Amino acid sequence: MPTLRDRLQDDPFQGYAYAYPHKTAYRHFARPHPLKELWAGEDKDALFLYLHLPFCEMRCGFCNLFTTTNPREGQVARYLDALERQIEVVNRALGDHRHARGAIGGGTPTFLTTAEMDRVFRMLRQDGGLSKGIPLSCELSPGTAEPEKIAQLREEGVTRASIGVQSFIESETRALGRPQKPAVLHGALQRLAAAGFPVLNIDLIYGIEGQTVASWLQSLAAALDYAPQELFLYPLYVRPLTGLGRKGRDPSDLRLDQFRAGRDFLLARGYRQISLRLFRRDDCPAEGDEGGASYCCQEDGMIGLGAGARSYTRRVHYCTEYAVGRVGIQAILDDYIARPADHHAFAWYGHELSPAEQKRRYLIKSLLRADGLDEAAYQAWSGRSWSADFPEVDALLECGLAVLDHGRLRLTAEGLERADTIGPWLYSEPVAALMEEYELA
Ligand SMILES: C[S@@+](CC[C@H](N)C(=O)[O-])C[C@H]1O[C@@H](n2cnc3c(N)ncnc32)[C@H](O)[C@@H]1O
Ligand code: SF4
Repeated sequence: MPTLRDRLQDDPFQGYAYAYPHKTAYRHFARPHPLKELWAGEDKDALFLYLHLPFCEMRCGFCNLFTTTNPREGQVARYLDALERQIEVVNRALGDHRHARGAIGGGTPTFLTTAEMDRVFRMLRQDGGLSKGIPLSCELSPGTAEPEKIAQLREEGVTRASIGVQSFIESETRALGRPQKPAVLHGALQRLAAAGFPVLNIDLIYGIEGQTVASWLQSLAAALDYAPQELFLYPLYVRPLTGLGRKGRDPSDLRLDQFRAGRDFLLARGYRQISLRLFRRDDCPAEGDEGGASYCCQEDGMIGLGAGARSYTRRVHYCTEYAVGRVGIQAILDDYIARPADHHAFAWYGHELSPAEQKRRYLIKSLLRADGLDEAAYQAWSGRSWSADFPEVDALLECGLAVLDHGRLRLTAEGLERADTIGPWLYSEPVAALMEEYELA
């Protein structure tokens, strides 16, 4: 394994540790786990419910999310039937539980018609037991953010609307393999801003071919015209089997400069940095971080519903199988749709976390956030100090990438901009080996 110092010589953007262990470290379990057993010993008082809708109007060149375009006739309806079966079985297996927040992600949930979304909300509220009044996030794309869909999200109690913009400059979205008309984009943003969601989030990408530091700041300034409470700034990654990957394109080598310029721009305009990617307006309360499917507190349980959605208990992470290419995704979707109800009562595919991996996950998820790891909370949770469990972290202190500050282990500004180096460096050897084996297969 490369040392931290070796890694620091390389490009800072080495991998996005948004979940640990990464999905590419998931495998079929030797024996399926009954959900009832998995959840029996868990704290089920504040769960995060995530519902995945894997359909989009187009497949963007950069995107490796679990989603598909042009669903076959009746496929969305059949997918919703399968979701209904899954929700019923999962609810029964979980027994008494309460949600702290929810998210509808994808894909592009608003690709669905309002009648289909009606069904989704009914499932969530009535069958899934997700009460109105708790934070609920939903993703949209500019092309699907139509007035009636926005109105529906508001009426149904969505508190956070998250829209993928990527860039306000047409030639840049074209370079990303995402044709996007400025008039459509601005129309969508005007409607979203006027709708008054408690949180509006805008996703932007840097590192695009042809994008300069100045044009990146132009996109950031255009985003601020809509006064979003949150902004996700994603460094571009080009991954195998995506449109850009097949064409052999690379991210530009301006990513670090663009990140720094973007960070300084936002810090000077009333935003604070929550992590490498997430910035939040000072006057906006936290709703659970890194929105969508990815982040919640270190200890939260997550119930994922739908194909591609992950579920987390403390000891086992699981989901349906994972693929990026169109054929693999279709096969997984078909399998999900055809599953008889009792299949949903088991976890078939995922990762069993040893006690050491559970601690490592806690460390990674805390340390990569600006507020860092609370030493006393870690000690109370794990029974040991972080320094006894992870002596290697001293290297971060020695390199000036982290500091100890009022009982917290925190990354410095230099450390935070290196979060995509530090995350993969912290992966355990077994997890890194599984990920590598997947990439090579
Ligand atoms: C589910 S989408 C957002 C909603 C909607 N589907 C859309 O595209 O407008 C998730 C976000 O992840 C980011 N993203 C996905 N793949 C990425 C990649 N390879 N590099 C950088 N950002 C990426 C994009 O900013 C995208 O908006
Ligand atoms: S970026 Fe959004 S719209 Fe594009 S393929 Fe990915 S999920 Fe779909």
